[in-house]
Amino acid sequence: MAPLLQIENLAVSYGVIRAVRGVSFAVEEGEVVTLIGANGAGKSSVLRAISGVVPHQGTVSYRGTDLRRSAPHEVVARGVAHVPEGRGIFPNLTVEENLRLAMWPNRRSRQAEQHTALRLVFGLFPRIEERLKQMAGTLSGGEQQMLAVGRALVSLPRLILLDEPSMGLSPKVTQELFAALATINAQGVALLLVEQNAHLALHFASRGLVLENGVVALAGPARDLAADPKVRAVYLGR
Ligand SMILES: Nc1ncnc2c1ncn2[C@@H]1O[C@H](COP(=O)(O)OP(=O)(O)OP(=O)(O)O)[C@@H](O)[C@H]1O
Ligand SMILES: [Mg+2]
Repeated sequence: MAPLLQIENLAVSYGVIRAVRGVSFAVEEGEVVTLIGANGAGKSSVLRAISGVVPHQGTVSYRGTDLRRSAPHEVVARGVAHVPEGRGIFPNLTVEENLRLAMWPNRRSRQAEQHTALRLVFGLFPRIEERLKQMAGTLSGGEQQMLAVGRALVSLPRLILLDEPSMGLSPKVTQELFAALATINAQGVALLLVEQNAHLALHFASRGLVLENGVVALAGPARDLAADPKVRAVYLGR
């Protein structure tokens, strides 16, 4: 069976800047894969290319379909949700409005599933349910990240692209968030996780890739990467 997501020879350029060059990897159904690397390595660019918000060269194949001609909203509709760097919530809309927008288009055939997903969001993040009428911009950083993940969930994804979800969060809130992500994954949703916190990422994921200057420098089981002397020295500070 084909992998859920298959990336082959991916390249992303911004004018003369070649941010990603010749990146290939796959994410299997229900798997957690992490992408680590220094600032500017091209991690966010990989996620942006998958969700169609920046143009790319190479192949992004999702469930056997090339996503090249899919607009970002079509990529979401196919089951790939993106929780971007900085969360990307609408600060001047309420929490409820943010969630409702993500449930669009509200097709009758999806309503029952979306309702179930919303109940899951409220179960995972009770603070989100308590704050439905609050302006999203007034949520704490941790609550905003929970809303961003909640918004991804109500779009009924099979794959969630997470860009630095722990950014700016306390260790305690980070732990809560990752416990929620583990529950989401246990329901069969695959995760592609970009993280600055390599220690956390390599413990959470089953496989990992190290990006350096837009190319894959190392890839393998997360356990092996965590034991790799170079990864330990450069990314784990050991
Ligand atoms: N819109 C843009 N225009 C021009 N250059 C860009 C743009 N977005 C990203 N870049 C450049 O592409 C390279 C990769 O950026 P990217 O955001 O993918 O890195 P990253 O690994 O996510 O970094 P960070 O850890 O800091 O988030 C960087 O050199 C960056 O300056
Ligand atoms: Mg980034």
